[in-house]
Order: sequence, then structure tokens, then C-alpha cells
Amino acid sequence: MAMSAIDRSIRGSVNALSVALNERDSYTQAHCSRVLMLAEALGIACGISTEDHAHLRICALFHDIGKLGVPDSVLLKPGRLTPDEWVLMKAHSEQGERIFRATEIAKLELTAPIIRHHHESYDGSGYPDGLKGEAIPPLSRILLVVDSYDAMSHLRPYNKARSHREIIHVMESEQGEKLDPFMFGNFLRLIEHSALRVN
Ligand SMILES: [Fe+2]
Repeated sequence: MAMSAIDRSIRGSVNALSVALNERDSYTQAHCSRVLMLAEALGIACGISTEDHAHLRICALFHDIGKLGVPDSVLLKPGRLTPDEWVLMKAHSEQGERIFRATEIAKLELTAPIIRHHHESYDGSGYPDGLKGEAIPPLSRILLVVDSYDAMSHLRPYNKARSHREIIHVMESEQGEKLDPFMFGNFLRLIEHSALRVN
């Protein structure tokens, strides 16, 4: 099918923001690309609709775009963040929603909340709004599962890279607390045979 002018415009906006993020922090851009691939697989495993799949793809690419607004001293800090610095880092989900809304590239009433809520925990202890369980958009819950796996599998200044077994052990302990148990169960089955499984 030929790509429409709107499709080309959307792809251009995504690419421009992706390049901008890469200029700030190449890790985050690479992380978003891996999260996209894992989210696509988990979306299929969870049986989401074709329309939701399109929303999930674009939100996976954009979910951390708000890190453009996090100061270098925090985003690139070679060490653990202080409580005040964590406040600045956590603001990226709301900043991401604002940046994403400004692009007007998708059905914003459906997609912007997915970015805003991608760090909400299943038990209500997440941010920015402390949403709980089914009140959290399902696609945000999918993103959190794959985001968690990828974040733990790669070295960061404040986190060592863990093995697959170590990551799954942590994630199992987070079922029902941070992670949606249904979505984590599906992830557990697919990651064992995924090319994105770490050693
Ligand atoms: Fe994030």
C-alpha cells in the first residue's frame, strides 16, 4: 500500500524527535528502539487490536521523549540520583505527554495518556498520578513490562546490567505490585524464545 502524505508526515515527526533524543542521550534512543520490538511482540501475545497495535508502536518509540526536558546533570549523571534529581527524572512522563501532544501526529486522546502513564505501578505506587490496576491504560501496562526488562538488561550509570535469570527473578517479585500479572505472564512465555532475550 502506498504511503500517504499523512503517513510520511508522521514518520518524519517521529524520526526528527528520535534524532533529537539521540543527540542528547544515545542510550535512550537505542532503548526506545528495543522497547518498540519487545512491545510489538507482547502486544500480539496479549491479543490487542490492530488499532491498538498502531498506537502501541508509536508510544513505544515516544515513551521516553520527555527525557529531552531532563537536565544533562541528571540525565547523564555518572552515579546514583539524589531524591531531588529523581523528581526531575520522574517528570519525563508528563513532559513526554506535552511534547507528544504538540506533534498532533496521532489520535492524541487515545495515545497521549499511554505516554503519561507508562510509569504507573499496578498497585498504585507509580507516577505521575498513582493510578492503580485496570485504571492504568492497558498499553501503558504493556510498555512498563518491556521497559523494565530492557532497562535491567543494559548497563546504566546507576544500574548494572543483569542476566536474563536475574531480571526475571526481579520481575516475578514485582508481579501484582509494579507489573500487571497477566501481561507479565505473557511476557515470560514470549521472552524465552525472543531474539531480544539477554544471556
Ligand atoms: Fe520512562
